[in-house]
Amino acid sequence: MTHFRPATALAAVACIAAVTPAVSASPPAYRDASRPVADRVDDLMARMSLQDKVGQMTQAERLAADPATAAAAGIGSILSGGGSAPTPNTAEAWADMYDAYQRAAIATPLGIPTIYGVDAVHGHNNVQGATIFPHNIGLGATDDPELVERIGRATAEEVAGTGIDWDFAPCLCVARNDRWGRTYESFGESPERPTTMASVVTGLQGSTLDGPASVLATAKHYVGDGGTTGGDDQGNTEIDEVELRAVHLPPFRAAIKRGVGSVMISYSSWNDVKMHTNDYLINGVLKNELGFTGFVVSDWQAIDKTDGEEGFTADEVRSSINAGLDMIMVPYDYQKFMDLLRAEVEAGRVLMSRIDDANRRILTKKFELGLFERRFTDRSFTGTIGSPEHRELAREAVRESQVLLKNDGNVLPLAKDGGKIFVAGKNADDIGNQSGGWTITWQGSSGPITPGTTILRGIQQAVSPGTEVTYDRDGNGIDGSYRAAIAVVGETPYAEGEGDRPEAMGLDEEDKATLARLEASGVPVVVVTVSGRPLDIAAELPEWNALLAAWLPGTEGAGVTDVLFGDNNPTGTLPMTWMSSADQQPINEGDDQQPLFPHGYGLSY
Ligand code: GLC
Repeated sequence: MTHFRPATALAAVACIAAVTPAVSASPPAYRDASRPVADRVDDLMARMSLQDKVGQMTQAERLAADPATAAAAGIGSILSGGGSAPTPNTAEAWADMYDAYQRAAIATPLGIPTIYGVDAVHGHNNVQGATIFPHNIGLGATDDPELVERIGRATAEEVAGTGIDWDFAPCLCVARNDRWGRTYESFGESPERPTTMASVVTGLQGSTLDGPASVLATAKHYVGDGGTTGGDDQGNTEIDEVELRAVHLPPFRAAIKRGVGSVMISYSSWNDVKMHTNDYLINGVLKNELGFTGFVVSDWQAIDKTDGEEGFTADEVRSSINAGLDMIMVPYDYQKFMDLLRAEVEAGRVLMSRIDDANRRILTKKFELGLFERRFTDRSFTGTIGSPEHRELAREAVRESQVLLKNDGNVLPLAKDGGKIFVAGKNADDIGNQSGGWTITWQGSSGPITPGTTILRGIQQAVSPGTEVTYDRDGNGIDGSYRAAIAVVGETPYAEGEGDRPEAMGLDEEDKATLARLEASGVPVVVVTVSGRPLDIAAELPEWNALLAAWLPGTEGAGVTDVLFGDNNPTGTLPMTWMSSADQQPINEGDDQQPLFPHGYGLSY
């Protein structure tokens, strides 16, 4: 019989234990959904390498990294830039794409799910067939935060129906100069409406982030993007701190109070300091003073632009991360970003505590969203995309966003019955034009780009069977036999700096020619402007009997005709002062200029 001495016996047990595959112990703490999120984050981070952590701070465009590549590289977030859609561009294809990224991510050793961001800024606007709601300038005209919260909820359902879990919205910019190409992304020129419209955050995020169809919202673009000199997109906001705090900060306070999960930094500068390197405003004000506990994401290739040169450098990586950015929307050269950041940490120029803080913020949101449990698309929401209920909500929002600015002789509302109505204008029968930028593609485009109801179709549906509706884009064929002419004019789609208007801000020559034909007929002319901002139309206004500002209504153009034909009394009021002349820009409430129509103006029947 072999007698083991205690020491030998212990050694023997140790050897046996070492070679015997451990019977699977209970799952690691971070996978235990019953544990507090903070504990799960701690446990997961303790298992992560520096490379893992740098990966979580990296966001790549889907076109730069397919699911297998993204997982192999340890990339923590994927985005679709404006118009970056799967083929075919259907809700099901989006959901399949999202699920493929998640399947690859959770198959990695630590199985950290990705978080996938899109710009659903007026509905799930990248997706064919989605409900396209009015852009923010129109929602600002409603001055109805409860409606906007419902729009947030409907948008979240359509976004979640494609799997996507993060929405780069709302833009809470306060547009001070209407020359800015992003004026239509603003709820208003004063902080009050952007502040109350932060209600959309609650709609998007739901009562809890892991609730059904909840998606992470993004307050953007922090801070002062709407205050640049000349309305120059990505320009320089040259104001003192008192004005920055009074005008541009309140909407972010409101969004933080509503628990917004992420904040996107603005491309712009504040008094010549790039926001993406502004330690005082990000670390000092946003995170410390305002107590923002979510995570901070850069804008697209924004860190490339801080030194005025193409591409990004180690200095730009270091200065943005040390300023308080937690995740960088690279979006293509992600390996270079990861290598540079890792090198900065290893050189001690970015502290590990900064890396850990960023990871803690990001992972906390991933756990709170339930991504470790609810990994794939909840296809029960896929059918909400472009649903009749959502389109009806959008039509309600279009109605409420209409601002009646002139109504001589009470020419409006138009009768539905009898006679002939002439419709003209390049924006009368064009879903793309009435939706504006950020629709199917980044810049948007004219034409039948997605299913919806044009304003012309809305007119045809609104009138009685005995009423004849004639449409000619240019106004050719009108004569005195018509009882009214409706001219739907304004702007064609644009986004961001492409839409800056440093020069004239009036109607184009096509619209002016169309209006001249209508006016020459002697028929009462009702003008409907479809535009992303107030336009310089004071010189033409006397020839018009009525003027209705429709803004960028989206797919449900019948909401405009609900007001034109009196099914709804117009209640919208101007979220932006309406200039008398482009020379007045910037023109805002309280300055000593004489507008054509003041901020808050709007007529009713
Ligand atoms: C854009 C916009 C930003 C958007 C981001 C991702 O350049 O500035 O609003 O969320 O890139 O598309």
